[in-house]
Amino acid sequence: MLGLSGVFGLNGALGSGAMYGAGAMHAWGSVSGFAGWLEATPASTSIKSVSWVIPFVQSIHILMIGVVFISCLMIALRVLGVMRTDEPVEGVWRRFAPWMWSGLVVMAATGMTLVVGEPEREFGTVSFWLKMALVAIGVTGTALYGRSLKSAAAGAPAVFPVSAKAASVLIVILWLAVIFLGRAIAYDKQVWGALSPHA
Ligand code: HEM
Repeated sequence: MLGLSGVFGLNGALGSGAMYGAGAMHAWGSVSGFAGWLEATPASTSIKSVSWVIPFVQSIHILMIGVVFISCLMIALRVLGVMRTDEPVEGVWRRFAPWMWSGLVVMAATGMTLVVGEPEREFGTVSFWLKMALVAIGVTGTALYGRSLKSAAAGAPAVFPVSAKAASVLIVILWLAVIFLGRAIAYDKQVWGALSPHA
């Protein structure tokens, strides 16, 4: 079977293992090798050895989905002229963006804990890697979106141009896709069929 790094064409990019410790460099031949190395680390075994840690961390992760997604939705609905149209968009951004960014920080921390706890479960799925790519695009896109809103609003337009509305819809769809992929990690084979390394 084509190794995970082969599937993602990562061999070349990950070839230069000079930056990793001796253990990681030895196992870094493929991402699945790295997952096996990470799975055997004291950090991973201690996360797994306490039965409530993973369900507890996953619960915080799930809670934060609401904080991140609803904060983003509130901003998008303002730009789309659906809600809070009597409030300047900077005020709506100032109100909800801190929740969104701090929620994302908590999600990164809880997500990384889940990754360290169960690396083979996560790295061995298409959903996880697609999700991580979309999270990176989502964070960059949302930051740029916020910046463009503030500069657009500086001229205090009551109604936003189509481009800003289209960007609002795209940002919401993107975070919905991240949510779907997060849940799809547990159903990778069912969702991706032969594409899934678990197939
Ligand atoms: C920032 C980095 C993030 C990392 C490293 C991460 C990592 C993870 C991991 C490892 C899981 C467990 C999957 C499993 O084993 O079944 C998970 C679940 C999930 N994640 Fe994330 N995640 C991140 C951000 C996000 C964001 C931003 C969202 C949505 C806004 C999200 C939504 C979800 C969902 C819906 C689940 C499924 C929870 C469940 O029902 O079990 N994640 N995430």
